[in-house]
Amino acid sequence: MRHCLLLLTLWYCAVNGLLYPAESETRQIRSLDGLWQFRLDEDGVGETEQWFAKPNLPQPTILMPVPASYNDITQNITIHRHIGWVWYARDFFIHNTAPRWVLRFQAAHYETHVWVNGQSAMNHSGGHLPFEADITRFISINESYSKVRAVVAINNTLTSTTLPPGYLHIYNPTYRYLETPFDFFNYAGIDRSVILYSTSNIYIQDIAIDTQSINFDNQHVATSAILTYSITIGGTNRANSLRVLIELLDANGIVVANNTDSQSRLVVNKPNLWEPCGMNHTHPCTEESYLYTLQVTLYNDASSSSSSMNVVDIYRISHIGIRTIRLTDSKFLVNERPFYFHGANAHEDSDIRGKGFDRVILTKHFNLYGWLHGNAFRTSHYPYADEFYQMADRFGIAIIGETPAVGLSATQFVSQATLDHHKQVVIEMISRDRNHPSVLMWSLANEPKSDAPSAKEYFSTLANFTRPLAAGRPITYVISASYNGDQGIQFFDMICVNRYFGWYSEPGRLDQIPWLVSQELANWRRRFPNKPILMSEYGADTVPGLHNDPSFMFTEEYQNDFLSAYHGSFDNVSSIIHPDTGYFVGELVWNMFDFATEQSINRVAGLNRKGLFTRQRQPKAAAFIMKNRYEQLELIRTMESKTIQ
Ligand SMILES: *[C@@H]1O[C@H](CO)[C@@H](O)[C@H](O)[C@H]1NC(C)=O
Ligand SMILES: *[C@@H]1O[C@H](CO)[C@@H](O)[C@H](O)[C@H]1NC(C)=O
Ligand SMILES: *[C@@H]1O[C@H](CO)[C@@H](O)[C@H](O)[C@H]1NC(C)=O
Ligand SMILES: *[C@@H]1O[C@H](CO)[C@@H](O)[C@H](O)[C@H]1NC(C)=O
Ligand SMILES: *[C@@H]1O[C@H](CO)[C@@H](O)[C@H](O)[C@H]1NC(C)=O
Ligand SMILES: *[C@@H]1O[C@H](CO)[C@@H](O)[C@H](O)[C@H]1NC(C)=O
Ligand SMILES: *[C@@H]1O[C@H](CO)[C@@H](O)[C@H](O)[C@H]1NC(C)=O
Ligand SMILES: *[C@@H]1O[C@H](CO)[C@@H](O)[C@H](O)[C@H]1NC(C)=O
Repeated sequence: MRHCLLLLTLWYCAVNGLLYPAESETRQIRSLDGLWQFRLDEDGVGETEQWFAKPNLPQPTILMPVPASYNDITQNITIHRHIGWVWYARDFFIHNTAPRWVLRFQAAHYETHVWVNGQSAMNHSGGHLPFEADITRFISINESYSKVRAVVAINNTLTSTTLPPGYLHIYNPTYRYLETPFDFFNYAGIDRSVILYSTSNIYIQDIAIDTQSINFDNQHVATSAILTYSITIGGTNRANSLRVLIELLDANGIVVANNTDSQSRLVVNKPNLWEPCGMNHTHPCTEESYLYTLQVTLYNDASSSSSSMNVVDIYRISHIGIRTIRLTDSKFLVNERPFYFHGANAHEDSDIRGKGFDRVILTKHFNLYGWLHGNAFRTSHYPYADEFYQMADRFGIAIIGETPAVGLSATQFVSQATLDHHKQVVIEMISRDRNHPSVLMWSLANEPKSDAPSAKEYFSTLANFTRPLAAGRPITYVISASYNGDQGIQFFDMICVNRYFGWYSEPGRLDQIPWLVSQELANWRRRFPNKPILMSEYGADTVPGLHNDPSFMFTEEYQNDFLSAYHGSFDNVSSIIHPDTGYFVGELVWNMFDFATEQSINRVAGLNRKGLFTRQRQPKAAAFIMKNRYEQLELIRTMESKTIQ
């Protein structure tokens, strides 16, 4: 226990301030989403010409919605494929009702510089993760209101040290091309919300809570749970009389545990457990999973007139789920019962918005998950918007949280600088997502060149770095290398492999899939007899409405036959169908939806078409095949049946 707290403390020195902006008695939230002024900076002169200090961006400007990727908003191909700096600007008012104001970007892609009232307020490298700055010092706090101008410059150029990496080819002044060693379009801009929020001078800066300890009786009923937590307080001029009250509220708002230490534990008797849907037949994917609320109150005890507490700050996390995770040699246990991941990975990607966050797309995503009876997905290939994790907590969907380390496919993209940035991204991702019960595992990379000799040192270092931060989750990365070539996964907890027999290899040969898959899984098992295995991608491009019998590549029939051809091999080694001998713990289709890529000779109209659903979220024939399979898998989980049609 002490060891754990010590680690928490050390870690908290390094990372702070990624609590999701939440409204409370002491905090105001203001959305800065909307239409911003926007322009390209094709010559890269904005910073030297100090556009941030001018009352307007130089003409011509256009209106750009926030949040959205800027690429597909106009009819202008120059904007679609722009490489380099773009600028956003808007004015707003702050009413001086609070002593401290924070400007927060839920994400912007890739390199971002932000000025507030002409002064540099923050810089951030990397998309997909939030960043924020206290902007109080840039505003005139003596007036009853302040007029504030925010100017943002964003550069989408990827280099050999960014994650994901890229390589800029400059053939001549008008022909530049950003090579992206990954298979999705490099959408850019302010693609998640911009939020202004207030706090008190002294405030709750961070909360970490670990729900990894549950006692079960011999009927497997949870009798008690111990939640270990750590609260970080920010701000200066701290009075000795400052106190903190930590309370855990059940779904009815009743306090079930409390404490007054900033680092300690909460004991919950007869806890209601969080578990992924499908683990219990009384809990289909369409119903909500059990969540508690953690309420942290910071107050001043000076007056000590007991009844009226002098509240300084209140923050609530409303998605606390009590559950454990444990790996054995061959099983992935949630609450000490075997869990089998089934579902489809996705991208944050949709028509017009690109990677822009949109609650319509978010909600449809989870409704389709319920319809499909999927119980898990990987946030391929970067951390998704917070709201995806909040929905997954609520609907009992398991998440494998992935870093943006995709495309480390050549040694030119792997260096000490890459590793340093990779560590930074791991810190930012885990500190943002660690309190979500839905996050069951961290994936630190996708398809790196892990058969290079240098991969051994790289991944050993990364695993050692991540393990103390991992907050009770197993760590992995997703492998494309061969079972005998991979140098890095030995340092991780689980094997996740992507395989495309019958597509990228053996194209058209559905008949070869079953033995190839069975042999593949057996080979991995032989090399790593102590690590459970999951297939983290398999899939085939499919143009909806295209038919051929016998099934040919790109037809709906082929996608059906392709996916089905894998399933017999999965079931033969499944850890739930064969509890004694199985070691295979999950299957994730590539992909849930068709998604945008660069234009290329194998991407018709710039789409990867491996979706079970189109980019417009309508089902292809294979969606019904997978729905049927997932319903069957759920029955095995719940009825303890051992057969599947
Ligand atoms: C497209 O955008 C570029 C950069 O803003 C601009 O120079 C060009 O005039 C635009 N083209 C059209 C047809 O609007
Ligand atoms: C920004 O983009 C330009 C290309 O327009 C590139 O040359 C430059 O290195 C980039 N700067 C940063 C800080 O990423
Ligand atoms: C952001 O980077 C610029 C250099 O491009 C630097 O002048 C500025 O001080 C940085 N701002 C902050 C807040 O670190
Ligand atoms: C606010 O008022 C105080 C006291 O009059 C003064 O010292 C300070 O400089 C003022 N600050 C600003 C930003 O005007
Ligand atoms: C904590 O809970 C106990 C009983 O559950 C209660 O007696 C006590 O008043 C609570 N403490 C605070 C500070 O609310
Ligand atoms: C299944 O869910 C019901 C209702 O939430 C619960 O009472 C039961 O204990 C659960 N079964 C298992 C095996 O967890
Ligand atoms: C990682 O930690 C293990 C165990 O402490 C150690 O043997 C190994 O050398 C470390 N790896 C690196 C690259 O430092
Ligand atoms: C599954 O196992 C059965 C029994 O061992 C075997 O006959 C069958 O060929 C296996 N299927 C695949 C796809 O490997």
